[in-house]
Amino acid sequence: MKGSLERLKEEALVLIDKAPDDQELISVKARYLGKKGEITAIMKEMGSLSPSERPAFGQLVNVVKDTLEDAFTRRLLSIKKSATLDSLKKEKVDITLPGRRVLVGKRHPLSIVMDEVVGIFTRIGFSVADGPEIETDYYNFEALNIPRDHPARDMQDTFYISEDIVLRTHTSPVQIRTMERQAPPIRIIAPGAVYRCDSDVTHSPMFHQVEGLIVDKGISFGDLKGILKTFVGEMFGEDVSLRFRPSFFPFTEPSAEVDIQCVLCRGDGCRVCSGTGWLEIMGCGMVDPAVFGFVKYDPEIYTGFAFGMGIERIAMLKYKINDIRLFFENDIRFLNQF
Ligand code: PHE
Repeated sequence: MKGSLERLKEEALVLIDKAPDDQELISVKARYLGKKGEITAIMKEMGSLSPSERPAFGQLVNVVKDTLEDAFTRRLLSIKKSATLDSLKKEKVDITLPGRRVLVGKRHPLSIVMDEVVGIFTRIGFSVADGPEIETDYYNFEALNIPRDHPARDMQDTFYISEDIVLRTHTSPVQIRTMERQAPPIRIIAPGAVYRCDSDVTHSPMFHQVEGLIVDKGISFGDLKGILKTFVGEMFGEDVSLRFRPSFFPFTEPSAEVDIQCVLCRGDGCRVCSGTGWLEIMGCGMVDPAVFGFVKYDPEIYTGFAFGMGIERIAMLKYKINDIRLFFENDIRFLNQF
């Protein structure tokens, strides 16, 4: 019996050491130490020993059991350890891989310029007004002194939605809407999108304008000049000069176009300014008394001026861009440069 106990022990130790995983190990343990295990079976045979042999044999069985339990625990630990190492190896993070690049969004050049223009005017006391892009014929034309069949309507190729509804061709209708809503004094700018049926390197069917309007007692052309000089100085630099060229708009009288010194050749004449040394940046003038008539302001008491500039044009000059369509193509290589 002692002999077979020793044999079982050696056999079990070999199997424990060889067990590749904990499943196998558990079944080895059950085979020897379990309720129906072989060592357990030997203990049951102890009854056949003489009483004097029993204690020594009992002790031996206990030693064998402890040895096997120890071996079992040690093997279980080492199986677990190598399983952990295995999975660590498999889940290894390759820190040499380049990280995933986080793409940071940027502001559109037109938004940058629009904000800059709005910022300059709000700092000198203008507030921001707005109006709908889908406009009635009345606000877009009629109340701005552009009657039906007037040739001035051809100045702006209009998108008609119906006979009376248009996509606004300029931000000037916001002048009317603002004056209808409030009494003078008025000092607003109106930034926004406008639409004209026109498309080439300098014209886009949708573009942006900023309108300006001041109405109060005693407003003169001198005030207009002062405000626009301040604007040009802030936007393009103090050293850039500007000039007023007589022009015509049905809603201002007198009217003028504002030119600035060419930002590229500084006045010498180049391709961009067609050799003139000057670049047109906006239209302006004193509010025509006929417009005051539509909003019931007394032209004997109040005078005012208005101006309107194209944001795309200003952005093109500022960033030296030669094709307006670049703003709307959404080419990341272009947009990333601002
Ligand atoms: N609305 C005119 C245009 O779009 C610009 C303008 C605005 C002219 C205000 C004079 C006064 O061309």
